Amino acid sequence: MTTRTAVVVAGAGPAGLTLANLLRRAGIGCVLIEEQSRAFVEQRPRAGFIEEWAVRGLQQRGLGEKLIASAPIHEKFEFRFAGRRHAFRYADLTGHRHYVYPQQFLVTDLIAQYVDAGGDAVFEVSDVQLHDLTSDSPAVTFRTADGEHRIDCDFVAGCDGARGVSQGYLPADTTVRARHDYGIGWLALLAEAPPSADGVLFGIHPRGFAAHMARTPTVTRFYLQTAPGETEADWPDERVWRELHARLTVPDGAIVQGELIEKRILDMHNYVIEPMTYGRLHLAGDSAHLVAPIAAKGLNLALHDAFILADAIEAYFAGDPAPLAGYSDACLPLVWQYQEFSLWLSEVFHHSAAETSNPFLARIAEARMRRLLDSPAAAAAFAELYIGRRSAADL
Ligand code: APR
Repeated sequence: MTTRTAVVVAGAGPAGLTLANLLRRAGIGCVLIEEQSRAFVEQRPRAGFIEEWAVRGLQQRGLGEKLIASAPIHEKFEFRFAGRRHAFRYADLTGHRHYVYPQQFLVTDLIAQYVDAGGDAVFEVSDVQLHDLTSDSPAVTFRTADGEHRIDCDFVAGCDGARGVSQGYLPADTTVRARHDYGIGWLALLAEAPPSADGVLFGIHPRGFAAHMARTPTVTRFYLQTAPGETEADWPDERVWRELHARLTVPDGAIVQGELIEKRILDMHNYVIEPMTYGRLHLAGDSAHLVAPIAAKGLNLALHDAFILADAIEAYFAGDPAPLAGYSDACLPLVWQYQEFSLWLSEVFHHSAAETSNPFLARIAEARMRRLLDSPAAAAAFAELYIGRRSAADL
């Protein structure tokens, strides 16, 4: 096992894998460590909507060929509101689209590209600890089936997600941990069913929000807004389908049922950790900022961080430390734009539910919906935020 490298990357999610691949290609020493097995992370279902600028960002860096060759492109979604279908063609308004590629496919591709090119990766590590982060030579220790290991390095990239250990190393007195709880839940569902429509459906309904997201020809993701405190046990299959039909079905728009293969209540909250850096530790992705899946932003932000961090570390080893010193400041503006949009959209989605809201906020949510549907200027502004960055030119 390597005992000294330039960068230890903790976490083989989209952030860590993108970073590790880019560091390798830049000729910078790197060891990737991951708590789970390779097989586990290659099949773990997560996000799946990648904004066009992020896809171009991967492409420009020599990553993502399979994604571009095989991911379906989405140019529109549909609101189901007040008993009607309202197509929203955001690509017409922005010139940009989404690529739909389940996160585990991206993770599988990125692991193959890294490992096949001789990248150093250690799976199934435990007891990960970071040391001497404010010195010139930090270290990471961990355990594998073979025993205890220590890798000394120049930098640690904390890409270990929302439940990782890295974020815990940022000291309380110099770190702002900003958090927002939505006060509702989402029941995340995967059904063995073909998509009921060729894109995303957002059901804005007095019974609560519901969504449909085409994933593959045989598997479809659904979400249902749930009341605070509800658990999976409150949602037998029969109730799930009853609510999906009630909240999403409109004339000429039926929902196709299938066997439910995943049923998980998501605790809907967001957080941002500022700054994203402590000494020689740099956080990237969910470890630094979590955004509830309301607007499908998390994976895109993880890629954004990874691009910026890879460039900054490369600049550092080429003799320019400024980009790395400015890493957190470079990432956070987009993080906050995406957080703000997710919060705004959450109010539109969730406040219509009479059960969990109040009549005043429900009417405000409806007013926002009508403005979006009636005003071309409001629609254009919304579309720009929904598709994320408009240009990859400055990446
Ligand atoms: N050491 C090493 N790896 C760890 C540790 C640890 N102590 N703790 C967790 N991990 C691993 C997890 O098993 C996971 O594979 O870190 C990885 C983090 O990956 P993600 O959670 O996918 O986070 P990130 O790469 O930031 O990507 C964000 O992932 O959660 C989704 O929807 C979210 O799309 C967003 C994206």
